Amino acid sequence: MAQYYLEPSRTFSEFLLIPNLSTKNCTPQNVDLKTPITKFKKGEQPAISLNIPFSSAVMQSVSDHNMATALARCGGISFIFGSQSVEDQAAMVRKVKEYKAGFVVSRSNLKPEQTLADVLKLKEENQHSTVAITEDGTSSGKLLGIVTSRDYRLSRDSLSKPISEFMTPFSSLIYGTSGITLPEANDLIWEKKLNCLPIVDENQLLQHLVFRKDYDADKENPQGLLDTNKSYIVGAGINTKDYMERVPALVDAGVDILVIDSSDGYSEWQYETVQYVKQNFDVKIGAGNVVDREGFLYLVEAGADFVKVGIGGGSICITREQKGIGRGQASALIEVAEAREQYYKETGIYVPICSDGGIVHDYHITLALAMGADFVMMGRYFARFDESPTKKLKVGNNFVKEFWGEGSNRARNWQRYDSGGKQGLVFEEGVDSYVPYAGSLKENLDKTIHKIKSTMCNCGSLTIEELQNNARITLVSATSLVEGGAHDVIMKDNGLSAE
Ligand code: IMP
Repeated sequence: MAQYYLEPSRTFSEFLLIPNLSTKNCTPQNVDLKTPITKFKKGEQPAISLNIPFSSAVMQSVSDHNMATALARCGGISFIFGSQSVEDQAAMVRKVKEYKAGFVVSRSNLKPEQTLADVLKLKEENQHSTVAITEDGTSSGKLLGIVTSRDYRLSRDSLSKPISEFMTPFSSLIYGTSGITLPEANDLIWEKKLNCLPIVDENQLLQHLVFRKDYDADKENPQGLLDTNKSYIVGAGINTKDYMERVPALVDAGVDILVIDSSDGYSEWQYETVQYVKQNFDVKIGAGNVVDREGFLYLVEAGADFVKVGIGGGSICITREQKGIGRGQASALIEVAEAREQYYKETGIYVPICSDGGIVHDYHITLALAMGADFVMMGRYFARFDESPTKKLKVGNNFVKEFWGEGSNRARNWQRYDSGGKQGLVFEEGVDSYVPYAGSLKENLDKTIHKIKSTMCNCGSLTIEELQNNARITLVSATSLVEGGAHDVIMKDNGLSAE
């Protein structure tokens, strides 16, 4: 006979935190969000800790090398998506490891045959003052010129004027060549009174831009997640099919930590993959996803350095509709966290857990941490920012970014959903969608972090460990959910006049 879980499985929105006494030293400035992501013995230090409990999802539409450097600069980690060729994924990892603070990939690019109107439109969209003009309009095309507001006069120039007629052409540009160091680039910027120095390779292909304002980038980001060589720490997703080719290439590229990316991690394939990596490489590896105690203990026994929790809660996920498997994210997390505590008591080994998917409001992150997660993984949250790899589009009056699931027809990441049969995606488990564009990662992250820290102060906790130990969490009834938002008032932005 089947086994029944008669308690309904619950999600974050069904819980609230009850404040504890806030002592006077409980201020956001005193809160430390440092958190382990690899297992460690009681009394020892984990090999890798994050400075903020955030990781970006193993997804084509979220985690490429740009996201990885931007997030590591803020103290979190990206797991670069594995649904691409081994070479391409390894190249992305290498880019992060070789990234030098202060060198940025150009984000506003146009072709010379485009017009002044295109420049103005792009500047309005991106709020960038410098537009690189490349042969193919990409960030790595042949650099033909640069446009800043000094290159045109709106009062005189026609909006249809081609860029080639007013850009500062390459022949008049001061530029650096590949291999230039940041101090050398900055010396040029100061000497020649530039705002921006383009860096090109020997074929005049654009590599990076160095901006005067980024000079102190390193100092502005004291939270940056660095390895002992001062390179950013980066993760990568792998699957249980081609790991024997993929893992060596990723390790060679310098990856710090791997995660097996699967919608259901409670499988012998995961066990074998973890064991293969542990026996052959000196690299950390997480596994998942699971939603219960049994799944957690199985992956821990395999040797996983962390375990990822969550099935079916992702914003683009239709696994529950398609297959009828999954569990409310809060219930899954609570059970796994309990199993982890028991395992820690019995063995003295602490295995971090990651809550993956279903974070909708910032407070869900705090709840996940309070329920025992050491860090969260998010897709939708990060997809909204400039740094995600997808296109920004205007739909109606709003800017949006594209965001698609790994199980959608667009990504066709069948390895993530494979259960040993025919190789290929037979049915979709994810959708192709838009998310509202939200601006830069750092600005949004700073706000979210501030919210988490102030909630932790309400809960009388200065560290995530204290929050996990001290939190008091209450279920909310469906009726009391209504009083949680604005209610019984007329909102000013609903178009009603106040006469
Ligand atoms: P989000 O933060 O709610 O957007 O959830 C992101 C998570 O959804 C990822 O980290 C994956 O675990 C999961 N995910 C990604 N793509 C798909 C998909 O196509 N179907 C189901 N789940 C997915």
